[in-house]
Amino acid sequence: MDPIQNKQNIDDSEGEEIIQEGEVDENFEQRVQKLLYETDNGLNLYNKPVMPLIYYEFNEEIKQQAQQVISQDTTIIPQDKYEKYEQEASKIWDKFYRHHQNNFFKDRHYLEREIPELNHFKESHQKDETKLYVICEMGCGVGNALFPLKKNYTFFKKVYGFDFSKRAIDVLKANELYDENVFQACVCDLVLDALPDFERPDLGTLIFVLSAISPENHLMVVRKIFEWMKPGSVLYFRDYGQYDFGQINLSKKKNRKLKDNFYVKHDGVRVYYFSNEEVTSLFTTAGFKQLDVKAHYRYIENRKTKVKMYRVWVQGRFLKE
Ligand SMILES: C[S@@+](CC[C@H](N)C(=O)[O-])C[C@H]1O[C@@H](n2cnc3c(N)ncnc32)[C@H](O)[C@@H]1O
Repeated sequence: MDPIQNKQNIDDSEGEEIIQEGEVDENFEQRVQKLLYETDNGLNLYNKPVMPLIYYEFNEEIKQQAQQVISQDTTIIPQDKYEKYEQEASKIWDKFYRHHQNNFFKDRHYLEREIPELNHFKESHQKDETKLYVICEMGCGVGNALFPLKKNYTFFKKVYGFDFSKRAIDVLKANELYDENVFQACVCDLVLDALPDFERPDLGTLIFVLSAISPENHLMVVRKIFEWMKPGSVLYFRDYGQYDFGQINLSKKKNRKLKDNFYVKHDGVRVYYFSNEEVTSLFTTAGFKQLDVKAHYRYIENRKTKVKMYRVWVQGRFLKE
């Protein structure tokens, strides 16, 4: 059963919910917990309307339905292909960015809402203007997290980013917002390389990156990040959660599974779906102190195709004491 029935005709261009009379799902109020906008006025930094945020309640019924689809997907991609995807990972992402340039991922405007450290930095900078902070986005792609942050804040001394796709770094550096006085970006592979010799950040971010890395390398990568960060700094993690729409979709295709919760998409990009418990275990085993971990359950309806998506994202904040 569809957890949000009798479609609520969400017209995200207007940012309003239009409920047809007689079609009201009585449980809608309980299922959809909040309706709010990414920004106060419903517009993003470029004055374009943004999607309203609609949360749904993840429950046992939804979980069982998802588990059923996932468990029916039993064909595993052979080991030789698995290794090829691993070896060619950076090439595959290069090809991805050659094709999409910076038009694929949306700018991430939610970071201020989700990362309280940004407000702490802001307050301390307001009290004392000499207080400046360093941020580093690991697996920064073309800068969809970095540019909105820089645009909103004046307290950054340095904004670092690295990614193993040279193409992504080239696109990022070509962005008109890339100010060489503040930004510094380079090519670096979280799995294969030592992390860059940047000034250690006060805030590190790892946003939809670990999911692109093989699960057998997750702990090694998180340990490497832990060793690299400085005491007192915080790492913000956000990624795909188990039972996400994307996982169900890939499971239904039945020829995309690399390992449990790990799949390859049509373009060779791999994606892992995390549970909250796994995230906790990964980061605490690596040495971090967990500040929080939570899942976001968001309902999105594609305006053009009308496809309904029950998204699951996991995020956490971790302190290096
Ligand atoms: C889904 S994109 C997210 C990009 C960016 N963090 C954002 O929020 O828009 C995943 C990124 O991880 C990068 N990536 C994947 N594996 C990596 C690795 N081993 N080392 C460094 N970057 C990697 C990819 O090149 C890609 O840019």
